[in-house]
Amino acid sequence: MCARKFFVGGNFKMNGSLAQIKGIVDGLNSADLNQNAEVVISPPALYLAYTKDLLKDGKNKNIEVAAQNVFNKGNGAFTGEISVSQLSDLGINWVILGHSERRQILGESDEFIASKTKAAIDGGLQVIWCCGEPLEIREAGTTTDYVTKQIAALAKVLSPEDWTKVVIAYEPIWAIGTGKVATTQQAQDTHKDLREWLAKNVSEKVANETRILYGGSVTDENSKELATQPDVDGFLVGGASLKPAFIKIVNSA
Ligand code: G3P
Repeated sequence: MCARKFFVGGNFKMNGSLAQIKGIVDGLNSADLNQNAEVVISPPALYLAYTKDLLKDGKNKNIEVAAQNVFNKGNGAFTGEISVSQLSDLGINWVILGHSERRQILGESDEFIASKTKAAIDGGLQVIWCCGEPLEIREAGTTTDYVTKQIAALAKVLSPEDWTKVVIAYEPIWAIGTGKVATTQQAQDTHKDLREWLAKNVSEKVANETRILYGGSVTDENSKELATQPDVDGFLVGGASLKPAFIKIVNSA
C-alpha cells in the first residue's frame, strides 16, 4: 500500500472578515506544524488573494489556499461566477467542489459538480471533491449506495490521470456543524467502501493513491483517533478551522 500524505483542509465557509482572517493566518504563520501534512485553507472568495498574501509572511511555506467554488465554463456572461483561469491568475491552485451545502442549498447535481471538477482539473487546479449522505440514508443503512452513486458521476468524466488531482472528502451531512462526529468505525467503513469502489471501477493505483478525508464535526479532541484509521488520510474541517484548535488537528497524525 502506498503511503498517502496526510492532508488537512480548512473550510471557512461563509465566515471571516479581514481582521478574523488575519488572526487565523497569523496563528498558522507562527505555528510549529506537522511538516508531513499537506495543509489547504479555504476562505470566502473575497479574501482569497488577501489570505494568500498574508501566508507569504509565515514560516510554513507550504500552506495552500483553496476557493470554495468555481464555474464549469470559461470567462464570459456568467454573472456572479468565478472561472478557473481567474483562480489561477491569483495563484489559487485548489478548489472545494460538491460540498453538501452547495448540493442541498444551491441544488448542485452530481453531474454539474463532476463537470466543474473536470473543468477545474483541465485548467490546472486540484480539487477537494466532497460527498456524503443525509441522516435518513445512514439510518436506512444505504450509505455506501448513496456515496458510490455520487462518485460514479465523477468517475464518468475523469481520466485515470485526472484522479491524481483529486482529494475526496467524505462528509456525512448529519455530522456537519452538529457536533455529532461519525464514529471511527463509521468513517473507516465508508472510506474503505469508497476506496474499494475506486479499485473496482477505476484502478487499483487510483484507489491506493487517492486521499480520502473525513469531514463533519472534526475537533482536536476526536482527530487523533480518527487519524489512526488506515483509510482516513486526513480531514476537511469546518468550524474548528476558524480556531487555534486547527493547528492541533493538523498535528494529529
Ligand atoms: O467542509 C467541512 C465542513 O463541512 C465540516 O464542518 O463545522 O462540522 O467541521 P464542521
